Amino acid sequence: EQVPVTLSINGQTRKLSIEPRVTLLDLLREQLDLTGTKKGCDYGQCGACTVHIDGERVNACLSLAVMQEGKKITTIEGLAQGDALHPMQAAFLKHDGYQCGYCTPGQIMSAVACLQEGHANSEEEVREYMSGNLCRCGAYPNIVKAIMDVKN
Ligand code: FES
Repeated sequence: EQVPVTLSINGQTRKLSIEPRVTLLDLLREQLDLTGTKKGCDYGQCGACTVHIDGERVNACLSLAVMQEGKKITTIEGLAQGDALHPMQAAFLKHDGYQCGYCTPGQIMSAVACLQEGHANSEEEVREYMSGNLCRCGAYPNIVKAIMDVKN
């Protein structure tokens, strides 16, 4: 059975019918074709699915879509302004903050939240804040460099 839900996604109001058991991650990827948000583990361990809900970072795989009525959801697709990359996206490019790129959207969403929440006062603090975002390629040093560059 589906229930009606109105969501704000990347500044667009979407009226949707959703099964109550569907996660925000599956809604984004499978119903809305917003596949920038990645599924790594699907149980809150990897951070690949990180999005912002009302400006706070959230693992979309642990959030039910129907619970987001009236909230503002931002995904990696919503960060750039037209052709202009978000400064954090540009910094990841500049510092090679990725290798295979699979974890990158989640890394960038967490990195933006890290700055917004004021947790980028030292490299150590950044590493701590970003510890929920795993990268199998081991791009961590360059990710930290990118965040510190945007900070400064
Ligand atoms: Fe959500 Fe891994 S897919 S934390």
